[in-house]
Amino acid sequence: MAKGKKSIFYCQNCGHEESKWLGQCPMCKEWNTFVEEKVGGSVTKGTTSSARTVREAKVIPLVEVTADDNARCCTGIKELDRVLGGGIVPGSLVLVGGDPGIGKSTLLLQVCQRLAEMKKILYISGEESQAQIRLRANRMGTFSSNLLLLCETNLETIRGVIEHEKPELVIIDSIQTMYSEEVASAPGSVSQVRESTNVFMQLAKGLCIPIFIVGHVTKEGTVAGPRVLEHMVDTVLYFEGDRHASYRILRAVKNRFGSTNEIGVFEMRQDGLAEVENPSEYMLSGKPENASGSVVACSMEGTRPILIEIQALVCHSNFGMPRRTAAGTDYNRVNLLMAVLEKRLGMSLGNCDAYVNIAGGIRMNEPAIDLGIVMAIVSSYRNRPVDEKTIVFGEVGLSGEVRAVNMPEQRVAEARKLGFETCILPEVSMKMLRDVKGIKLVGVRTINDVMAYI
Ligand SMILES: Nc1ncnc2c1ncn2[C@@H]1O[C@H](COP(=O)(O)OP(=O)(O)OP(=O)(O)O)[C@@H](O)[C@H]1O
Ligand SMILES: [Mg+2]
Repeated sequence: MAKGKKSIFYCQNCGHEESKWLGQCPMCKEWNTFVEEKVGGSVTKGTTSSARTVREAKVIPLVEVTADDNARCCTGIKELDRVLGGGIVPGSLVLVGGDPGIGKSTLLLQVCQRLAEMKKILYISGEESQAQIRLRANRMGTFSSNLLLLCETNLETIRGVIEHEKPELVIIDSIQTMYSEEVASAPGSVSQVRESTNVFMQLAKGLCIPIFIVGHVTKEGTVAGPRVLEHMVDTVLYFEGDRHASYRILRAVKNRFGSTNEIGVFEMRQDGLAEVENPSEYMLSGKPENASGSVVACSMEGTRPILIEIQALVCHSNFGMPRRTAAGTDYNRVNLLMAVLEKRLGMSLGNCDAYVNIAGGIRMNEPAIDLGIVMAIVSSYRNRPVDEKTIVFGEVGLSGEVRAVNMPEQRVAEARKLGFETCILPEVSMKMLRDVKGIKLVGVRTINDVMAYI
């Protein structure tokens, strides 16, 4: 090991590599993030060459490759299966990231609970003792004896155990606690995280077992460690949610085997995470009646419509520079929509503070909620409520036109299911709908047309 060891300086924020120490990272512009890490030149070369000798270099025509989509294994947790694209693909490496205490370990232990009935599972924890995991498991119910536990952080030991035990699913909690003796830096550092992920990737592909890896996130909300981590794994899932609310949202950021638009909604309970089958009902609970500045809009998350309440508060500003905030949606988008309102409807919002919030702490960035934001702002500005049995969706363009959005049928159907009576939607989308019963459809062409409903 002593031979050929050299120093590389890594930015601990973005993973950028330099041969000398720098005060500021040229990539992410963070100060004081460079840490010296010793890298044995032979180590990295060694792993690639050994990997090469393991696999034979043989070419075959694509059409002769057999791949069976039915090989996916369903976890029985529908919300998770949907986000994964229909179940766990054999040999895949899945990274689960999320804020501290959001419920990553809980979710994965629940997956183990379901799958241990029929599979041998190895749960490796580097941050909790066996007794702590048992305490959590006690809250969740009974477990099969197929679930094996290992509290270990040494990568070489873990590799040995996996190769010996040959489990059918492996959970690593978390990647930041794993360390390899061949890398001379501290656990959690860029080179350790990269090396560990590389080893797990080889194990997953080599033995064809799915591996779930838990990753901590930085305060900016990305998985701690280098960005390459996200490139190395097959699927990246983020677990997010409001610390103060009990529901959690699982979102796919990258998925080699499915769509990245799907979300899964869970509720944190005493006995673990429960699936929320109808998130719209959940999001709209507690909506105020007859209040100005409150509008129900519909956003699509993948193939699933979710109704949300958009709230706006517009009030006179006491300072020269009005305050604007947007919680749960894009701040710049709110500013843009307010500029459209000022220019196209002649509203003087320049001397008003404006606060826009998506109730429930969920984040929505789909342009289809534009019309909802516009109506909420106008409703609060004029202090006139919008009818509470009305829902809206539509994208707003810079000239004040209301543009078409995709999947209007699903959105209207969801609104009808939840008992809404009127739906305001783009006129172009309305023409695509046929035979809609039980709900009144109002097609609008410009934002001027919707003012009649406030
Ligand atoms: N007795 C309990 N009743 C209800 N909820 C609980 C209970 N104990 C823990 N929780 C919930 O479980 C959460 C912790 O879950 P978990 O340990 O799975 O999070 P994590 O994402 O793995 O955290 P870390 O990043 O620290 O590993 C707590 O934040 C809390 O909301
Ligand atoms: Mg945990």
